[in-house]
Amino acid sequence: MAMTPTTERWPAANGLASIEEAVGAFSLLRDFFEGAIIVDAQTRITWMDKRYRELLKLAPTFDPIGLPVEDVIPHSLLRRVVETGRPILLDIMNFDDRQFVVCRIPLKDSSGAVEGAIGFVFYDNVDYLAPMLDKFEALQKQLTRAQAALTRERQTKYSLSSFVGQSEAVRELKAMVRRFALRDGAALILGETGTGKELLAHAIHQQSDRADGPFVAVNMAAVPEALLEAEFFGVTPGAYTGADRKARQGKFELAHGGTLFLDEIGDMPLGIQAKFLRVLQEGEIEALGSNTVKKIDVRIIAATSQDLEAKIADKSFRADLYYRVAVLTVHVPPLRERREDMALLCETLLEQTMRAADQRGWVLTPQAVSLLQAHSWPGNVRELRNVLERAAALAPSEVMDAAVIARALPPGVARSGGPLQGLATAVADTERQAILDALEATGGQKSAAALRLGVSRSQFYEKLRRYNIAL
Ligand SMILES: Nc1ncnc2c1ncn2[C@@H]1O[C@H](COP(=O)(O)OP(=O)(O)OP(=O)(O)O)[C@@H](O)[C@H]1O
Ligand SMILES: [Mg+2]
Repeated sequence: MAMTPTTERWPAANGLASIEEAVGAFSLLRDFFEGAIIVDAQTRITWMDKRYRELLKLAPTFDPIGLPVEDVIPHSLLRRVVETGRPILLDIMNFDDRQFVVCRIPLKDSSGAVEGAIGFVFYDNVDYLAPMLDKFEALQKQLTRAQAALTRERQTKYSLSSFVGQSEAVRELKAMVRRFALRDGAALILGETGTGKELLAHAIHQQSDRADGPFVAVNMAAVPEALLEAEFFGVTPGAYTGADRKARQGKFELAHGGTLFLDEIGDMPLGIQAKFLRVLQEGEIEALGSNTVKKIDVRIIAATSQDLEAKIADKSFRADLYYRVAVLTVHVPPLRERREDMALLCETLLEQTMRAADQRGWVLTPQAVSLLQAHSWPGNVRELRNVLERAAALAPSEVMDAAVIARALPPGVARSGGPLQGLATAVADTERQAILDALEATGGQKSAAALRLGVSRSQFYEKLRRYNIAL
């Protein structure tokens, strides 16, 4: 249904009887614009001037008339103008590496109904546009610089070098991670809470051939069981009552060509484990409510602080899934097993801790370091970061001495001669109360309470048993 440009009649828009007339009315402007285009109410091109064709480098034999505007100008906003009936008076569009000012106006009939739209592209070298284009260019440069800095920041944040430590244990760990990164097998990262498992998962991805591909994380403890399946495999529109009307891609699909990080894999519900295993075996997925399958190429990296072998023994984790994800296993040593890294680690963490007063860094006295080394660090590096942040808030000057650190450490701990039994009881009481409070706040919903407390479902159930809280 291609129409020829010269004979196409424009529907009596704004009282203009024809294209010639429409353009004629703009002839005064002609010297100022570089090209012009008109679309109809369906946003199909009904006219385009010769200079615009040249600007777009359209082949002389190519006839754009009758085509949806986006087929010819992919980023066109004329559809928005037609749909809203409102002009976009000033915008900037790139053609090749040149920037042009564009102006788009709806065309309406006498009753005000939108019949189409007209777009102008203005010269980029006219004096009256120069100030704005200069400003735009300067902002664009700033943006590019900021984006590059952000990318660098992200890369260093997650690279292996950001895992601080020079102890033998850390050196071995890093050598192993480098080796594992180059192989493409599934990797399982084991270690206590706060040891840097997530950081290492990013580092493995960064060092691997998949570094340019996506890194997609799913935290098994944070997603309610009922939603996990949709989260992994995606949803087809209307798959179940209340499902999004739009299709939603699953994390498996989003991770295609890259890495899928299964955080807290020990919390993966058994039902999902079976489905998950099938996907790993078959290398393809089927979205909820769809009959089509898609090939999937992802590398699995999983992490947990739980004892998976014990979970296999009590049948809450499938052995076959375990063998699939534990092809390469990394053990991350807890902080108390690498106390020689303490000073270096503190230095790095303190560099990331702002000082309000001036820009000079913090000074940690040797006694303060010794005190930190003596602590047992159940929360590992995350706990250390918290303690240092607390110390930073307490310290009267830039010098952090043992007294400041002693105050920043969790109550009772590391204060020599402190009654240990008393501390254990105090901690237990506080924990029990926190659980009761969370249950009250969530109306007794255990998953929600666990989420609120930031612990996994299984950790939460374990605590309920330990504190004899019956529901
Ligand atoms: N070796 C390290 N060097 C520097 N920072 C570290 C190191 N290990 C951990 N961290 C920091 O400690 C915090 C906790 O690390 P991360 O989230 O990777 O731990 P995790 O093992 O996944 O913990 P969890 O089991 O609680 O999820 C993060 O802020 C991380 O940047
Ligand atoms: Mg983690």
